[in-house]
Amino acid sequence: MTATAATLEAVPEPTPARSVPSAAHHPAPAGYDRIVFTGFMGSGKSTVGALLADRLGWTFLDLDTEIERRCGLTVPQIFAQLGEAHFRRQETAALASVLGRSRIVIALGGGAPEELGNRLLLEQTPATAVVFLTAPFATLYDRCQVQAATPGATERPVLADRQKAEARFAARLKHYERIADSTLDTTALSPEATVEAVLRAFSQS
Ligand code: S3P
Repeated sequence: MTATAATLEAVPEPTPARSVPSAAHHPAPAGYDRIVFTGFMGSGKSTVGALLADRLGWTFLDLDTEIERRCGLTVPQIFAQLGEAHFRRQETAALASVLGRSRIVIALGGGAPEELGNRLLLEQTPATAVVFLTAPFATLYDRCQVQAATPGATERPVLADRQKAEARFAARLKHYERIADSTLDTTALSPEATVEAVLRAFSQS
């Protein structure tokens, strides 16, 4: 671990939102303590993840938000001031930390599975289901453009060059597929319908 990562470990964690199971919640998927959403930018990981956590009565955590909290900088600031390699190191440290929590739904950043260490962390953490939300690149790119036009939207540095973003998408597909326990094509699905599909997928497994 780098000195920076070790220092960051000392940052106190926020009190997680209470996740109290009740009769109103959907039963948790048998055998799982963590559900992790992966996929390219625009695939709906954070929106679907938050809705699913709500249904289960679990905590929701967006890994980018966690990195921002640990670094005290926004993701675009980390990219601009410290570089992508630094962002990736923080991403790995944050992932290792949050995988220690239970009854949690985690939305990864789109690039997290590029790192071998992150893939191994996900594969080797027991009771952890990884759900890959997929759609064609053009659909994902268009969704991101719509999101970018909404007030308060977070900038996505990796999307600045469309051609390079498409090349990353193509290179990442095999990694998303490798770590996925379940894959859902969200092209024609609303976030709510995607949550239902995730719950169905786990009730059949
Ligand atoms: C990135 C995706 C972003 C964020 C960062 C880098 C990527 O997360 O982690 O801007 O490399 O694909 P989202 O997928 O949540 O937008």
